Parts: sequence; structure tokens; C-alpha cells
Amino acid sequence: MTLEGFVLDTRCRPVSGALVEIWHADSSGEYDNAGYKFRGYQFSDANGRWAFATIVTQHYAFRTAHYHFRVQPKGGC
Ligand SMILES: [Fe+2]
Repeated sequence: MTLEGFVLDTRCRPVSGALVEIWHADSSGEYDNAGYKFRGYQFSDANGRWAFATIVTQHYAFRTAHYHFRVQPKGGC
């Protein structure tokens, strides 16, 4: 699947060069804490756009299936 979106500022203007990080469990609901698969990052483009090609994650324990994201502007928070 492809997850995609935009980084926008508080005035809805695109933010380029923002660091967008993703991590999630595998198709069995397990996090890879040894090889760190299903983790990555990229920088938003000139239009604030980002996209990740990844798998459909699964639920674990008492949490529904989900993806984690962290975003910070160029140069840090
Ligand atoms: Fe999680």
C-alpha cells in the first residue's frame, strides 16, 4: 500500500524539506526491534508532499492496526 500526505504550516502552506519518519508493525503485528524493518524516513518535496510504499500492518495486543509518524521541519523542532 502507499501512504501519502502533505506537510503544511499553520497557514496551510507547503513545507519542503520536512523530515517525515514512519514505523509500524509487520503483517503479524510484531515490531522488528533487531533488524528495524518497517521503519524509515524521507523529506517532503517542494510541495510538502511525501509518500511511503509499505505493507498493511496488523494489530497487536490491545491496539488496533496503526502507523506511527513523526514530522519535524528542516533544521529540527
Ligand atoms: Fe505502535
